[in-house]
Amino acid sequence: MRGRIPDTFIDELLARVDIVDVIERRVPLKKAGREWTACCPFHNERTPSFYVTPAKQFFHCFGCGAHGSAIKFLMDYERLEFPDAVEELAQSVGLKVPYEGARDNAPREDKTDLYAMLDAATHWYEGELPKSVEAKAYCLKRGLDADTIARFRIGWAPAGFDGVIRSLGTSERRMQLLTEAGMVASNERGNKYDRFRERLMFPILDRRGRVIAFGGRVLQSEQGPKYLNSPETPLFHKGRELFALWQVKQANSNLARIVVVEGYMDVIALHQAGLPIAVATLGTATTPEHTEVLFRAAPDVVFCFDGDRAGRAAAWKALESALPRLRDGRQAYFLFLPEGEDPDTLVRKESKEGFEKRLREATPLSEYFFGELSHDVDTGSIDGRARLAERARPLIARLPDGAFRDLMAQELEKRSGARAVLEPDPVARRPVQRPVAVQRSLVRSAISLLLAQPGIADLVEKPYSFLRLQKPGVELLAELLDTARSRPGINPAMLVEHFAERAEYASLQKLMAATIVGEPEVQRTEFFDALAKMEREALTQRKAELMAKERSHLTEEEKAELRDLLAIRISPQLSHL
Ligand code: UTP
Ligand code: MN
Repeated sequence: MRGRIPDTFIDELLARVDIVDVIERRVPLKKAGREWTACCPFHNERTPSFYVTPAKQFFHCFGCGAHGSAIKFLMDYERLEFPDAVEELAQSVGLKVPYEGARDNAPREDKTDLYAMLDAATHWYEGELPKSVEAKAYCLKRGLDADTIARFRIGWAPAGFDGVIRSLGTSERRMQLLTEAGMVASNERGNKYDRFRERLMFPILDRRGRVIAFGGRVLQSEQGPKYLNSPETPLFHKGRELFALWQVKQANSNLARIVVVEGYMDVIALHQAGLPIAVATLGTATTPEHTEVLFRAAPDVVFCFDGDRAGRAAAWKALESALPRLRDGRQAYFLFLPEGEDPDTLVRKESKEGFEKRLREATPLSEYFFGELSHDVDTGSIDGRARLAERARPLIARLPDGAFRDLMAQELEKRSGARAVLEPDPVARRPVQRPVAVQRSLVRSAISLLLAQPGIADLVEKPYSFLRLQKPGVELLAELLDTARSRPGINPAMLVEHFAERAEYASLQKLMAATIVGEPEVQRTEFFDALAKMEREALTQRKAELMAKERSHLTEEEKAELRDLLAIRISPQLSHL
């Protein structure tokens, strides 16, 4: 079982990676002084309010408030759980993630065993394929070569009802895992049997190359449903996964275009023909989640469908799911195939070049959009144009604010004569919160200044005399100082990450994001100024406290303390505190 990742490793990792690198690989950044900026990947906007600060190893969006370290960015952007984000970052810099207390009771997010079980099943099916004459013959008939079979880890689930169970379900725990992974079904009497039997097996991988589910095809269509897919499991959510996205990512470091087709065999045929840019949804319509994943993989997405009615309906669904994701820079195209053909048959007939030509000639979304909406209206009549406008308006309104949306609205105006009158995008319209949203109390200032350059912690003398001040945040400041002192060279994001599990985490992130003006030297002076003020404020506080008591109730010690306090001259500038 996967244990806890030690804090020291998180430190090391955040010290090794550069957040600018991590983000730049996913969102193109522009240099802006000491920072980098982009249009925020977490909300729709036209002017950049997303900032990456290398000195703090921190990102912050002044539009939607998203912020955090490189780990947080990966979690939000790639939708990963914390340990997976850490794994991915670690991999990128060649570090191995250590886990401590690996046997502790934390089954909550720990799916390692499930992955291992599915991998073992894949391996077992792969091993069965060469043993089956009929399966081998079928692969041959479908033109699958050995390299493709290996690359897609295609296998064979033999006849019989317990091949997998007997090979892999050798203990109660393993049976439980097989069941949880969707590999086992049971009848009314509770008897368990292999879900997949006599099927060619296509493993479905997640975006990190791990098997999370299967699709299985019968060899002859008379034998029940042609394809059987794994049920939804803790690892597999159909509406989110795309078949072969992993293989596409492996084959292309910088992908300009990705193609979505309908079937497993279509994907595989395209890859084998030299077009490793195809993925498929898993027997479901394209969801908005799919679309987001697709656009993150490549700026141009081509949706490829059969030319029949079902294909057209599916294409319109895909269009609807794409609309809200069409930020400037992203383009969607639609490719309709001749009746009776699918990408598998076509690429075999026309070869890679023929299919590429079709891709190049695919219909841009705007054209498909207006074509579909006007095909049954008479744009020569006022009524017809009104109907077109009525249909198009709410759809155009779903586009994110940007040049593309403006152009679509203009096009509608040209075609219908009616204004598009769009409700402005609520997120884009929200007033932009500029920096320094943080109220500058003394303690808060000190914390922000420390977060700006944790190195100054070394210069603060212990014991901390400001600790006597009774104000919220004082203890936290002391803790931050201790943490920073114990880890020389720690950067701001690492420092804040130490408090990830604490209630103060969100406030710390805000304080770190607060832009602090001035040169590092000036900031340092301000920091020590703040500490000195806190110290003096503590004295004033204590003096007031003692003076509030009846003299007769003071102990001898307290009387002495008060005498000393009264003797200290507190400078007039403190009177406003
Ligand atoms: P197709 O029947 O077009 O698939 O279904 P295909 O890949 O071209 O199959 P071949 O060429 O006959 O082998 C498209 C997709 O719909 C899902 C599968 O994901 C399939 O790849 N599907 C289809 C099912 O889930 N179940 C079915 O019974 C049929
Ligand atoms: Mn087919």
